[in-house]
Amino acid sequence: MNNKTRWYKDSFVYQIYPRSFCDSNGDGIGDIQGIISKLDYIQDLGVKAIWLSPIYKSPNHDNGYDISDYRDISPEFGSLDDFKKLIFEMHKRDLKLIMDLVVNHTSFEHEWFIKSRESTDNVFRDYYFWRKGRGKNGKKPPNNWTSRFGGSAWTYDEKTGEWYLHLFTKEQPDLNWDNPKVRKEVEDIVNFWLDLGVDGFRCDVITYISKAKDLPNGKWHPFVRGDEHFTHGPNIHTYLRELSKNSFSKKDTMIVGEGAGVNLEQALIYTNEDNEELDNVFHFEHMETDFYKQVLPRKFKLTNLKKIFSRWQLGLFQKGWNSLYFENHDFPRSLKRFTGDYKDKRVEAAKMLAVSLYMQQGTPYIYQGQEIGMTNYPFESIDDFQDVVVKNVRKVFGVFEPLFRPIILKVLKVRARDNARTPMQWDDSENAGFTKGTPWFLINPNYTKINTKNDLLNHDSILNFYKKLIKYRLNNEVIIKGYYQEYNSSNEDLHVYIRTYNGITILVVCNYKNKEVSFNPHPETVNKNCNLVLHNYGYDRPVLEPMTLRPYEALVYELNKTK
Ligand code: GLC
Ligand code: CA
Repeated sequence: MNNKTRWYKDSFVYQIYPRSFCDSNGDGIGDIQGIISKLDYIQDLGVKAIWLSPIYKSPNHDNGYDISDYRDISPEFGSLDDFKKLIFEMHKRDLKLIMDLVVNHTSFEHEWFIKSRESTDNVFRDYYFWRKGRGKNGKKPPNNWTSRFGGSAWTYDEKTGEWYLHLFTKEQPDLNWDNPKVRKEVEDIVNFWLDLGVDGFRCDVITYISKAKDLPNGKWHPFVRGDEHFTHGPNIHTYLRELSKNSFSKKDTMIVGEGAGVNLEQALIYTNEDNEELDNVFHFEHMETDFYKQVLPRKFKLTNLKKIFSRWQLGLFQKGWNSLYFENHDFPRSLKRFTGDYKDKRVEAAKMLAVSLYMQQGTPYIYQGQEIGMTNYPFESIDDFQDVVVKNVRKVFGVFEPLFRPIILKVLKVRARDNARTPMQWDDSENAGFTKGTPWFLINPNYTKINTKNDLLNHDSILNFYKKLIKYRLNNEVIIKGYYQEYNSSNEDLHVYIRTYNGITILVVCNYKNKEVSFNPHPETVNKNCNLVLHNYGYDRPVLEPMTLRPYEALVYELNKTK
């Protein structure tokens, strides 16, 4: 057993996408010094940790998720000295640092891969998956797996006449974790950063690291093939326990895994404390309530979202640990997705979403800009997207792409990852205060209205509501440890639940719709002394009684037993 304090059970984590956060030197790209200049802002929010998307050396085919040197910082973000300064300044403010750990694959420019592709018998060959092709002359890929980003998961390499595996772009070759040398390399990398003072890791696509022996063909599907042979593969739990024993558990860390394809059953194994694998996982189920398989838009139904919330809240209770998130750098902004057409009620809707999510059990995550209610970018042209996924999708359509362009654009406008990657909106000055130079990416024109400066000044802003909510949650045993029980589960407008612990009950009432909705408190929750602790309209509902909720109204009551 390790000696973890499990500080993450009571801590908000703030995710920074460094490229888009704050630029200190006017080259248009966010950087470490920029982050340092905003630490007071982050500390003031009340969060206890920061997760940094990758800042390692990278040729940026996937914005840093393709690493060419695991022990150095990308020059566009700064130097190792800047990084040391960052850790120092963070720890001074009681902020912990979670680094992104991208070790399912490396960049094709990593020296291991460069050496690996040189010949069939070098020591690095077995760091990756090299196979002979099928068919006459071996010109067909070794199996039918597809890349998560479109097309075959294999690329042919002239030099040795063999193919290599990449579950993402061809610039991101997959590491072979069955090779003990690879696992040792990863341990050393983790220990290197732990020694520098890092407090934890967010493990990128960690559920894919163990591939089925002999890499068999996947079930047939037009676009997505092979999943069943590399999601939670045969040795995944063994490899994670080994990494935990030799590295993660050396300090009081938090390890969160990106859980592509994680279901409740698997999450229970990954996050059960006795197993010592991960501390929490990001499952994707609630992120698919409005996109089929995360791709095709479908009608959002609140009852589906609530069912998923309940299943995970109850399923992990006292057996595992949840993570709570609505946004990150891989999804569009949450507002429209879950609250529909909010019109002039953006502020109310954003506050309501925060209440609905963050009063649940688990480690809460906030993605940069979420705390001021940043929105999707109003894309008008397909050429404005920057993400490699968009480029790959266009390629998949081949010569027919121009024909399908209007429909592709329609989907991308609501689904593209670029929506969450536009620069952070700090104030109403040029470029939203993000940079004094030319920003690397488009800035949402609504920055004159939606920015941190406005929100800091306005008492009723989303930002100030977040601060209140974060403060309320801190050290709150009912929210950290309490049982979750949902009411009104078949109601399409309301999310109503209680959390109970040690005789105290917290009741959460959220109206997900831009309309008035009537609400009758459940008999079990009336007849108690109540205290309204959070409210997004004003504290004018001191008594819990049948009421007509206003659009996006959210209420949190503490209920004590009648004496
Ligand atoms: C994860 C990252 C995503 C990246 C992918 C490949 O899903 O969050 O941004 O593109 O892994 O590394
Ligand atoms: Ca810069």
